Amino acid sequence: LEGSCLSIVVFGASGDLAKKKTFPALFNLFRQGFLPSDRVRIFGYGRSALTDKGLRDRLIGYLKPAKTDPRKDPSSVVKEFLDLITYISGLYDTVDGYLKLEHLISQHEDLKSGEKGQTRRLFYFALPPSVYPVVCRMIKQHCVNKRGWMRLVVEKPFGKDLASSNELSDQLGELFTEEEIYRIDHYLGKEIVQNLLVMRFANRFFLPLWNRDSIDNVQIVFKEDFGTEGRGGYFDDYGIIRDIIQNHLLQVLCLVAMEKPVSLNPEDIRDEKVKVLKAIQPIRDDEVILGQYDGYLADPTVPKNSKTPTFAAIVLRICNERWDGVPFVMKAGKALDTRKAEIRVQFKDVPGDIFRCQKQGRNEFVMRLQPSEAMYMKLVVKQPGLEMAAIQSELDLSYRERYQDIVIPEAYERLLLDILCGDQQHFVRRDELRRAWEIFTPLLHRIDKGEFKPLIYPEGSRGPPEADRLTEGIGYVRTYGY
Ligand code: BG6
Repeated sequence: LEGSCLSIVVFGASGDLAKKKTFPALFNLFRQGFLPSDRVRIFGYGRSALTDKGLRDRLIGYLKPAKTDPRKDPSSVVKEFLDLITYISGLYDTVDGYLKLEHLISQHEDLKSGEKGQTRRLFYFALPPSVYPVVCRMIKQHCVNKRGWMRLVVEKPFGKDLASSNELSDQLGELFTEEEIYRIDHYLGKEIVQNLLVMRFANRFFLPLWNRDSIDNVQIVFKEDFGTEGRGGYFDDYGIIRDIIQNHLLQVLCLVAMEKPVSLNPEDIRDEKVKVLKAIQPIRDDEVILGQYDGYLADPTVPKNSKTPTFAAIVLRICNERWDGVPFVMKAGKALDTRKAEIRVQFKDVPGDIFRCQKQGRNEFVMRLQPSEAMYMKLVVKQPGLEMAAIQSELDLSYRERYQDIVIPEAYERLLLDILCGDQQHFVRRDELRRAWEIFTPLLHRIDKGEFKPLIYPEGSRGPPEADRLTEGIGYVRTYGY
């Protein structure tokens, strides 16, 4: 930021997302020196009538100074960060708040970079997408940066189906360029997800095996051990497919399945992801299982007769040379037995198996995104000792043990730093988004019309048993520990 200054505007500053994710991520960047206090100002914008102190008091409990902070007094780091924040109370569709915002930003810019210096403006939308178009219009009319870049950060849901998503993209696209728009999918900021390209393309032993000749099936699984917890109003409108599968899990699938990009240039990577999305076949009716947990309707924010799925298992099939015939099972559910997100790549049986390994289970490569990041390979070894028996064991890379001294950054922290650096690799491009909606919209419309009924499953269970039967039916061989 030498010779320039940065203004960060968080719209929806008094809301949940801002409090739990956006501000803590900014704080983490601040305490590591990425947001120097003599160059940066943060403006929280929201509808609530709050003072600067009111906002700061709300945030303080979410800002956790790291034990390893080089500065001596952790509370002073928090205070220094909070001092950077100014709150502006304003509506989203009237000019007054934006004029005030522009005035305060300009004041900061004149003070910090003089009249000729470079200025940078980052606008973070911690807002419901219904107000994105009006906020974009207001920014364009009243808060344009004339001396440097502007970047807009938007959060899902980007629409509810293909048509509404395209409409939103058009509205934003009329006002800002694709280079100015950062569509966050926070799964792309997770450590293990970011590791996928390195694992796949920097290791010789994966190269010849990562295809239909050796891989039998792939599962991408998201489980939460809690229900909607007061978010039922939002969730019921969207359901688990729009909330998790169409975005987070599909992004992970792209990285698992894509071809090697010609370089690490963000466009080269995103081009390859789009190719995978284009090769995904229409979803088959007999490869969809939906569920709803038995306590869902007891949530007072959920309509009493809701048929919204809180669980889904869906098989996706990629028609290309690498993956033809390999089912990818996407499974996501709320109120299940555990909290876990993982990728399971299951290999085919060994031909001519003299050790009867099939009985022990197959080779499997598992990447656990959370909780506690890990990658492990299930493989068959000789049981140690006198007996010549083949047993299943693991080659295990658990991050907590292996990288004890490294604090793994939060997804939002990493992604915000990317935005500041202008790196769009981990953000969803418009054509990716469109194709993601094309894949799921026909199914979603039929679910909305009531053509697919969710099966009721007990809270705290594995989900409907039919989902296990679906994964076993496509060839998944279950082994211990899963
Ligand atoms: C959000 C969903 O995108 O991701 C939530 O809207 C979900 O429903 C959350 O709980 C899960 O994120 P994480 O990082 O906790 O796995």
